[in-house]
Amino acid sequence: MRANSRVPASAQQGIHEQLGRLLERHRQAPFRKPYADYNRAAFEASFARREREAANVPLILDSCCGIGESSIALARTFPDHYVIGVDQSEVRLGRFDAATLPPNLDLVRADLVDYWRLLLDAGVRLSRHYLLYPNPWPKIGHLSRRWHGHPVFPAMLGLGGRLECRSNWRIYIDEFCLAVTTLTGRPVTGEEFDAAQPLTPFERKYRDSGHRLYRAVVDLP
Ligand SMILES: C[S@@+](CC[C@H](N)C(=O)[O-])C[C@H]1O[C@@H](n2cnc3c(N)ncnc32)[C@H](O)[C@@H]1O
Repeated sequence: MRANSRVPASAQQGIHEQLGRLLERHRQAPFRKPYADYNRAAFEASFARREREAANVPLILDSCCGIGESSIALARTFPDHYVIGVDQSEVRLGRFDAATLPPNLDLVRADLVDYWRLLLDAGVRLSRHYLLYPNPWPKIGHLSRRWHGHPVFPAMLGLGGRLECRSNWRIYIDEFCLAVTTLTGRPVTGEEFDAAQPLTPFERKYRDSGHRLYRAVVDLP
């Protein structure tokens, strides 16, 4: 990737003024959109693989894993964990030869709007959860497309574990922190950090473009 990407440009200059109201609405009305068959099938197949290969091993979820570079790094860093990387893009997930993946890694093509809720319904709880450089949706009118503005967010938080989100848009991380604290009562603040060894292609691209990088880490109940 060329290292000349731009920081998200937005007319929004701080936390979205509708975020608090939106979170209250999502807290009060559980998200009940029916599951798509392909997500249910992807979930069941991945759940069966995990039952077969690593039933009682702590689970790390790499949500929006893209090509799975971070998932591979996590599987190698945590050999005593099982890692599932999920992305909706089949093309991205096909980048690495499946035969070369670490044995404690599964890459799954699914829409996280369903996959997170299917995990929760199945009683699965996470050890760690990574959300690295999700699409920022910086337009003011796109608040509900950002994960913390989406009605699935409370269910995603219900998966628990150590949740880490990274972005090159400060406002995304500030909003993410506010949403986590509002919905769980857990205090969390964002911080700027130095990606000496980038974990993902987007992190590498942003770092090489001279962007500031931000993250939020919180231990969920
Ligand atoms: C900006 S890329 C970041 C990819 C990777 N984490 C990285 O840092 O290189 C965002 C990724 O989120 C995925 N994505 C967006 N919405 C999704 C959804 N609803 N379910 C699953 N993946 C999704 C996209 O396919 C894309 O690969």
